[in-house]
Order: sequence, then C-alpha cells, then structure tokens
Amino acid sequence: MKSLFAIYSVFAFISGATFAAGSMDLDEYIEGMNVKTSDSKSLQRGARNFFNYCSGCHTLQYMRYNQIAEDLGISEDQLMQNLIFTDSSPQDLVMNNMLKEDGDRWFGKAPPDLTLVTRRKSPEYVYGLLNSFYPDNNSPTGVNNHVQEASSMPHVLWDLQERLSDEEYSQFLNDTVGFLVYAGEPIVEKRKSMGVWVIGFLLIFLIFSYALYKDIWREVK
Ligand code: HEC
Repeated sequence: MKSLFAIYSVFAFISGATFAAGSMDLDEYIEGMNVKTSDSKSLQRGARNFFNYCSGCHTLQYMRYNQIAEDLGISEDQLMQNLIFTDSSPQDLVMNNMLKEDGDRWFGKAPPDLTLVTRRKSPEYVYGLLNSFYPDNNSPTGVNNHVQEASSMPHVLWDLQERLSDEEYSQFLNDTVGFLVYAGEPIVEKRKSMGVWVIGFLLIFLIFSYALYKDIWREVK
C-alpha cells in the first residue's frame, strides 16, 4: 500500500511539473503589452519592423505583398522601396530564399512560418518571446529565452533593445506583434466595422418598423 502511494506521488509530481511547464506564466514578460490592430500607423510600423528584422528568416506564406499594402494603406512605391527586399513582385507571397534543410542545418530548427503564429500560440506568447532573451554562454546563440526554453532563435533585436528605451522597445514589439495578429486574420478590422454597420442598419429598421406599426394600428383602432 505504501509503495502504491509512493508511485502515485511520483506520478502526481511529474504531471504537476509538466502542467506547470505547459502553462508557463507569461505575465512577467508582457508588461507594457498593448497591441492595437485598429491603429493603421502601428500596423504600418509593424510591417516595416517585420520586413527589416524578421523576413530574412521567417516567411508569411499565406500573405501577398500587395494585399498587405492594400489593407494597411501603403502605396505601391512605398511597398517596393520599404517592404520588398527580395526579387519578388507585389503579387508574390511573402517568402524568402532560405531552404528548410539549410534552416535546419544552420539553426538546429528551421525558422517556422509566422502567418498563423499568434493564433497557433498567442499574441502574448510572441510578445513574451521577443521580450525575454537573456545571455547564456552554454547556448550556441549566446542567448536563451524564458518563454521558449533552449530556443534556437538568436536575439536578433539585441542591438535595438540596447539602443531603445524600455518604452520604445515595448512600442516596437506592440507594432510588430500587431502586424502578426493582422497577418493571422487579415479581415479582422473589416469584420468589426461591418458589425457596426449591420447593427446600425437593424436599429434604423427597428425605428421604421415601429413607426409603421403605430401608423397601421391607429387606423384599425
Ligand atoms: C536569424 C534568423 C531569425 C530571425 C532574423 C528571426 N527569427 Fe524568429 N526564429 C528563428 C528560429 C531558428 C526559430 C525556431 C526556434 C526554435 O523553435 O527553437 C524562431 C522562432 C520564432 C518564433 C516561435 C515560433 C513558434 O512557433 O513557437 C517566433 C514567434 C519568432 N521566431 C518571431 C520572430 C520575429 C517577430 C522576428 C523579427 C523581429 C524574428 N523571429 C526574427 C530565427 C530567426
């Protein structure tokens, strides 16, 4: 009986520990998080950040450049000058030249596509990941990460984080994560504004119906 209890305790401990690791508390790393997908200037800055700092390694394989430009209110000139660093044309998907085999070889794990990352994980996860790198001499990249333990992603924002104030870095992350939320669900803002129109229409319709109802019954009574 005693040994049964001992075995049970070990299992309880293991499952407890796994659970704790799975539901890691992000709160500590998302202070200052305030993502605004309705702010088109923020999304434009986020797009600029993504194409400057992330697109060399990460793709957005379900997005086309010109769709991004149209949704975010960017002109074709700005698009060509500021967002497209490869030999792609505006109607192409956002890919890069890194082959998966090379990515696996160079990093241990190829950088994943980021189109759906804020939905697969969460916006908090992405913000926390970019906000929780710390120096670690035992890691091949020289850094480790609190949110993704033993991550093979280098801290590509190192210089930037050194140069910017905490608020500025936080703004940079909010813009970048906001852009990735948009990429995961490009019609989210259209859907929201559509909702307002639909409710407005129903309200006006209600007023007319009520007036009509009054009018008809006045004659009947
Ligand atoms: C030098 C290449 C490189 C650059 C540049 C880079 N990353 Fe990464 N990133 C990686 C690698 C490699 C991984 C895989 C890490 C792992 O799973 O161990 C990764 C993983 C991630 C993940 C985790 C995805 C998941 O499914 O868990 C996110 C989110 C991410 N990167 C966001 C970004 C953002 C945002 C930028 C731009 C600010 C960026 N990365 C720039 C190499 C890069």
